[in-house]
Amino acid sequence: MIMIDDIAYVRSGTADLETAVRFAVDVVGLEEIAREGGTAYLRADHRHHCLAFVEGAAGVLASGFVVRDEAVLAAAEIELEHAGCRVERGDADGARHRRVSDYLAFDDPWGNRIELVCGQTQVHRPLRFGRAAGIVEFGHLCVDAPDVREAYAFWSAHFNITISDWIGDAAALMRFDPVHHKLAVFKGVRPGLCHMNFQVESIDDVMRSWHVLERMGVEIEMGPGRHPQSTAVFLYFKGPEGLTYEYSWGVRRIEPDEDWRPRTFDPAEPDAIDLWAGPTQKPSTQFQVAATQARTAR
Ligand SMILES: [Fe+2]
Repeated sequence: MIMIDDIAYVRSGTADLETAVRFAVDVVGLEEIAREGGTAYLRADHRHHCLAFVEGAAGVLASGFVVRDEAVLAAAEIELEHAGCRVERGDADGARHRRVSDYLAFDDPWGNRIELVCGQTQVHRPLRFGRAAGIVEFGHLCVDAPDVREAYAFWSAHFNITISDWIGDAAALMRFDPVHHKLAVFKGVRPGLCHMNFQVESIDDVMRSWHVLERMGVEIEMGPGRHPQSTAVFLYFKGPEGLTYEYSWGVRRIEPDEDWRPRTFDPAEPDAIDLWAGPTQKPSTQFQVAATQARTAR
């Protein structure tokens, strides 16, 4: 069993680095903490970065998760290989580039590139947000798979991942700590990143950003609304090259001593995704960059 401690980052390839960074800073509100060669690092909380844009083919490169230390990484490598995943151990150059002490990479059975890292660099000086969106932390990430039941079977067999709620066969909302979900899998035909989420300080931040983004001409994909599963008030919007961001506030916690039973919601019901019964659609996916193209994007 591979113990995940936290989410680490998203690495996203971009054919237009400047536009991707400008949106992440000026619209989403992240801080650009560093730029190195063709990579820009964006910060939202104590993590050195939660989003790295890598110049090259557009598309998601990897989703990162934190494990405790090198011993957990070594054990993870064995477990994943037994599970039939081809594991690539990171080298010193790759680790430095990711601001971690060590890492490994593998593809989940549906082709989503996942990285496990330890020793993610933390930065504790105050944030210099690009916009006052009220961001408090990188909240969760969501990848696509054609069968969310099979995806959950994979994640729960090899990781400390538990199902919190099902949205029929459309989504599995999963947790590895008390937060209702920090990893979600949505049904999608191709591997990719459905969205990355930022928690904001209050409901006012969500609603204010809704108006601000509309005035900026940003495409709102869904919301504002309230997810009945996590109780979070949400707003999904689309950035350059199809990268979907989400703000949310008020996510449910499930404490370890709680006798939580995962619930099933029928996506055909009008309020299954949004308790306020607003129009809903699956946020668009930034597809996975093919392994051959990704290899050059260190
Ligand atoms: Fe989300």
